[in-house]
Formats: sequence, structure tokens, C-alpha cells
Amino acid sequence: MPYRAMKESLNAVIDSLSDGILVTDKQGKIVLYNQQAEAMLGIKGSYALNQPVQDHIRNELLVKLITKILRLDVPYRTEEVCLMNSGNTMLRVHVNPVRDTNGLLIGSVTVLHDVAQLSAIDKIKANFLSMVSHQLKSPLSSTLLQTSILLDGMVGEFNEKQRDLLQKVRTKIKGMVDLIHDILDVCYIEEGGYLTQIESLNLAEILQRTVELMQPQAQDKDIAIHVKIEDHIPLIIGNKSSVEAMFINLISNAIKYTPSEGQVSVEMTQNAQNVQIEVSDTGLGVEDKDIPRIFEKFYRVRSEITKNINGTGLGLSIVKSVVDAHSGAINVESKVGEGTTFTILLRVK
Ligand SMILES: Nc1ncnc2c1ncn2[C@@H]1O[C@H](COP(=O)(O)OP(=O)(O)OP(=O)(O)O)[C@@H](O)[C@H]1O
Ligand SMILES: [Mg+2]
Repeated sequence: MPYRAMKESLNAVIDSLSDGILVTDKQGKIVLYNQQAEAMLGIKGSYALNQPVQDHIRNELLVKLITKILRLDVPYRTEEVCLMNSGNTMLRVHVNPVRDTNGLLIGSVTVLHDVAQLSAIDKIKANFLSMVSHQLKSPLSSTLLQTSILLDGMVGEFNEKQRDLLQKVRTKIKGMVDLIHDILDVCYIEEGGYLTQIESLNLAEILQRTVELMQPQAQDKDIAIHVKIEDHIPLIIGNKSSVEAMFINLISNAIKYTPSEGQVSVEMTQNAQNVQIEVSDTGLGVEDKDIPRIFEKFYRVRSEITKNINGTGLGLSIVKSVVDAHSGAINVESKVGEGTTFTILLRVK
């Protein structure tokens, strides 16, 4: 396709997106924007091309974010995310650096997404959920501890009926504590918590520790967890607690959806660009039609077998958010009745 025709069709594609796009060069001069960005940011005509962003964009916060991304030439993937008001709409803004094939910074790209209708009500809901969860966490955790002390016989013995009842109470409370942790993880990730606490992570160590943490759950079902971690896994930049939550959710799913005496394997390998983590099991599997949906919040596969397995359907939505936050990729392969493999790729730099 000739260059001119290619440029025109590229412009047509960019203009047909429902999100606004704004691209600058390394000096912060506007080099490209689509009609949506023009409307959302009040940019006037084509005069803005080749002009500094601050001359044409009135929103100071956005100018600051773009300047920051261009100045902050860090060697790992980074992005700035914020919500901002523009006229009477609310925009979710993502600003990313643009690099050439040698990894050199050549500019920035901003994506603007209109969240006007949902944002106000969503914010109230999220705040409420986060507040309620925080309030419930401590009393529930201490009730769980107290039922464990009672069951351990530390304050006297119970008869079989009493023990049985107490076991049931503990299982229910444990379910509630797990739910609270899931909700808090979702709130933390959605509030952008991962953006504020980023450090070098030793993935091999985090994975090893998570497997140890999950061993009792696996032993209860006579499930063996096989671990294979390559030597010299490079450090990645990321948020520790969210990566831990990602491993916990994948391994706990593998155990939960695998019948007794099954096998779970956890493998970590590396190549020049990525660390690959594979969690596979010999469990129930997921039907093709359900695969695109299992990452949705609160989605659970309904079947005769899964209806007896407790869960809230938040685990994989957390996993997906964490993978996205680290600019990674996730893939699922599954065969009903044979097992499931989740593969995650995280970039080394
Ligand atoms: N390893 C797996 N094997 C088979 N099915 C799975 C596996 N992992 C997830 N699923 C299916 O995907 C659904 C969504 O998983 P997700 O982890 O989000 O929620 P959950 O396990 O039901 O609840 P939660 O993790 O919030 O306690 C599950 O209900 C289950 O049907
Ligand atoms: Mg789960």
C-alpha cells in the first residue's frame, strides 16, 4: 500500500476509535490526535500539530502527566493513570511512553476514556465496599482465631456434636475472611495501589513461598504440588502484594477445581524478554464457552460439581488486573475432565 494511502487509513482507524488518542514527540510537541481527543480536550482544529502540549491543552494535570512520563525515562514499563474532569465529563486517562525498536524514548501516547455516567456511582460503591470490608476484617479474623482455639481444645474438650457444629462455624467464617481479602485486593488494585508501591521482585522466591503457604490446602485433598523453578530467574519490577495475590489465586483454583489425589504443577522459566509462570492441574477443566468469561468479576462456572465448591468469582479478576497492571499476558488452555493450564508472561524490563 502506498505511504499516503496507508497514512490515510491509519488516520481513519484512529478516528473511528471511541477513546481519545493524543501522541506527542519526545519534546512534548503534539504529533497526532483523533477527533475524540479533539472533542474531549477542546483542542482547536489542526493548529495544535507540532505545538507544545501546554499551549493547546488547558488541563494542567494532563500536561503534568505527559511531561512526567517524558522526563521519567525509566528502563521498565511504566504508565500514569488518573481520573480527570473535562468539561462535564469524567475521563480515565492512561499516559504511556513510546519507544522505538531499540527501546529509546521517542514520545508519549495518551488514551482518554469517557467514564462519565458510571464514575460517580462507581466511586461511591467502591468506597463503600472498601470501608465495609476494612470494618469487617478485624472482627472476623479474630472470631476465626477464637474458633480455632476452641477447636484445638485449648480451653477444654467438646463432645462430637459440639465439635461438628464448631467446625461448620469455622468453615463459614473462613469463607467470609477469604471474601473480605478478595474484595480488599480488588479495591487496592482498582484504586491504583500497585502504581504507588513498585519495587524489584524476586519472582522465584515469591512463588516458592506461595506454594509452601498452599501446601496444607493441597494435603487436605491428597493433591501433590510439583514445583519446577529455573535457576537465575531475573528480577522484575512490580508490586509485591499484588503478585502474591496472583499466585495464591491461581494455585488455590488449581487445588479447588481438582478432585482428590490429583496433581498440580507450578513452573517458572525465563527467556531474554519474559518470565513465564505456568500453573496446571489435572482437574475439572473449563468449557470453551466459559473461558472468555472466567476473568469477569463474580463469574463462576455453574455445574453439578462446581455448585458444591465455595467461591465468589473474584479470584481470576484479581489475577487479570495484576497481569494487566504489570503489562503482562495471560493464557488459558483447558480440556473438560482433563485439566487446565494458566500461563502468565511478565516482561523482564
Ligand atoms: N484451575 C481451574 N480449573 C477449573 N475451573 C477453574 C479453574 N480456575 C478457575 N476456574 C473456573 O473459573 C471460575 C472463576 O474463578 P475465580 O477464581 O475467579 O473464582 P472462584 O474460584 O469461583 O472464587 P474466588 O477465587 O473468588 O474464591 C471458577 O468458579 C471456576 O469455575
Ligand atoms: Mg478462585
